[in-house]
Order: sequence, then structure tokens, then C-alpha cells
Amino acid sequence: MKKILVTGGCGYIGSHTIVDLVENGFDIISVDNNSRSSERLLEGIEKITGKKVKNYKVDLCDFNDTNAIFEENEDIAGIIHFAAYKAVGESVEKPLLYFENNLVSLINLLKCVEFFKIPYFVFSSSCTVYGNPDHIPVTETTPTKAAESPYGYTKQMGEQIIGEFSHVNDTACVLLRYFNPAGAHPSALIGELPIDKPQNLVPVITQSAIGKLPGITVFGNNYPTRDGSCVRDFIHVSDLAHAHTLALQYLIDKKNKSNPEIFNLGTGSGITVLETIQAFEKVTGIPLNYTIGANRPGDVVAIYANNDKARQQLGWQPEFNLEDILGTAWKWEQKLKEDEKLFTGKNIQLN
Ligand code: WQD
Repeated sequence: MKKILVTGGCGYIGSHTIVDLVENGFDIISVDNNSRSSERLLEGIEKITGKKVKNYKVDLCDFNDTNAIFEENEDIAGIIHFAAYKAVGESVEKPLLYFENNLVSLINLLKCVEFFKIPYFVFSSSCTVYGNPDHIPVTETTPTKAAESPYGYTKQMGEQIIGEFSHVNDTACVLLRYFNPAGAHPSALIGELPIDKPQNLVPVITQSAIGKLPGITVFGNNYPTRDGSCVRDFIHVSDLAHAHTLALQYLIDKKNKSNPEIFNLGTGSGITVLETIQAFEKVTGIPLNYTIGANRPGDVVAIYANNDKARQQLGWQPEFNLEDILGTAWKWEQKLKEDEKLFTGKNIQLN
């Protein structure tokens, strides 16, 4: 059974990917400093898969601590690297935090990959590397333009670092460019756990619907799109997770045609912010309170994927549609509220 190191394994996409990897026969260890995640999702992984996954609570920006994981686990066969900060808006306000965290962690990890000769490396990249594309949908050969945010720059630079690294090492690398991850595992045992106020649209919608937020501010409806709000390609986190398993197996089977190899992971359909809000109201029957606000610095106007390459070469087929994405996100939000009540209830009993 191949042992795979998943960085950011306690996070949103990392936890869902661990479920898929375990279900496909891999042995997993996680490294996550829980700065923006909680080991609570490891409990959910265990409930779903029956497997207890060990997490090393280590900051990848600390080289010695990172290196120690590899010294302790000489049988690491591959790495899937999620650990990074990922909020576009926040990265505009705190660029140095994003450059340091996202790039130092990657470089430390690659130093270990080089020294310990790890054969396979899958990198969590993003459609933000395209910037504001001139033509949509984007393919993997669409030229990357200037990123619209420091977050996007960290993904562009991460891809370049891995590219140069792969030219002088035998490690086979894949760069997965996610579009907009959303939704939750159908069991509602794992999902997105925003530590503070959520930055992304779908958790803002579900927290507004459940009353944790007073409403939604739509960041602009004056864009050159069909209803003036931005266009995005929402992809279910479980579909995204399975693509990682397929990408890893693709490398193990030595099917990669280039190094690194790039894949777009989106559904191939674009939807506006306002249409997403309307779709949630339709799926749940819950009216949402939203206002139109100022445009958010760093936002791309419109982007969605051409995903033919992942379908043809990875055999990837997204299974969840927008209604599933919004429905599972809502089910998870409701589960969080139940758990909070349960926890609060226990407090009352104990006093
Ligand atoms: C989507 C749209 C906002 C919140 C995300 C991830 C990033 C990357 C790409 C994976 C934008 C609008 C949002 C709100 C709003 N994914 N919005 N009101 O910026 O596309 O980036 O996907 O790597 O990691 O952050 O996602 O959900 O923040 O925004 O109007 O309260 O929703 O302006 O147009 P984004 P998002």
C-alpha cells in the first residue's frame, strides 16, 4: 500500500482528498499546522473511512520540522501539496503573509522531495494563474496573464518553481488548476470550516442562510457579464478530490506526457454570483438577503474551464452539479449548527 503525504490534510480540499485516497487503497499521513484548519475533520475522515489518519502538526515554513517528517517516514511514495493560504481578498491586504507562507513552505517541501527522491508530486494550483483571461473557457495552454492578486502570484510562482525543479529532478509532477471549490462530502461529516468570517461566496451564502451572517454583499454588478456580476466555475470538492487520486495514479502508471503536466479542474460551465444566489434560494427554498456593494480588489471578471484534457487523460468525470454543490454545502452548514447546539448543550449540563 503506497504511503502518501498530504499537506494541509486537515483543510477543506485536503480532507476530502484523503477520503478519496483511502477509499482507493492508499495509506495516508497528513501535515497541517492547523493555523487555518482543525483536526476535527480528521474525526470526520475516520467516521467515513474507518481509518485514523496521523497528522503532523508542523509548519512547513520550518525546514527542520518538515525534514524530520521525511526522516521518520522513509516510505513516502508521493506528495499532494495543499497547504497554503487561499483567500484572494485577504492576499491583497496582506501580500507578504501570502508570499512568505505559500512560497517558503513549497520550497522547504521541494528540498525534502529532492533529498529523499520522492517520485510523485501533485500541486494544488488555481485558475487564478490565468489572471483575467481574454477568452473563456480557458484551456491549459491559455497564456497566463498578470495575476489579479498576491494569492494568484503565489500560485503562478509555485508553478514556475516546480517547473524548474522538475527539470533537474526525476520527480514526476502534476499541477492541478482548480476553479472554484465548493460543497461538502454528501455525508456532511466533513466540509469547509472557515476559521473566521468566510471569504468565499458559497460559505458566505450558507452562513447568511443559517443566520450566522446578516446578509450577503455582492461585490459589484457592473462587470461586462450577462447580469453584471462576476462569472465563476464552481466544482464540487468531492469531484476535485477524486481528480487528485486520478492524477497520482496517472503518475504512478507513468502516463504523464510532460513534466510538470497541467490539468484544469472545473465543470466547464460558468455561472454568475447573482445566479448562484438565485440557485441556492431555489434548491433550499430559503430567501437570501443581499445588497450590491463595491467591486472587490483582486477579483477576476469571468472565468470557467475547458476540462477536456482532464476528462481525456485522467478519465475524470465531474459527478456533482450546481444543485448538488449548494445542497451539500447547506447540509454541512446545518450540521455545524447542530454540533454547536450539542456542544453548547453539554456546557449547560456540566455547569
Ligand atoms: C467568487 C465570486 C466575489 C464573497 C476562489 C478561491 C481561490 C481559488 C479560486 C482555488 C467573486 C464574489 C464572494 C462575497 C461576493 N480557488 N463574492 N460576495 O475569489 O473566485 O477565489 O476560487 O484555488 O483559492 O478563493 O472565490 O468565492 O471568494 O469569490 O460577491 O461575500 O463571488 O467577488 O466574484 P474567488 P470567492
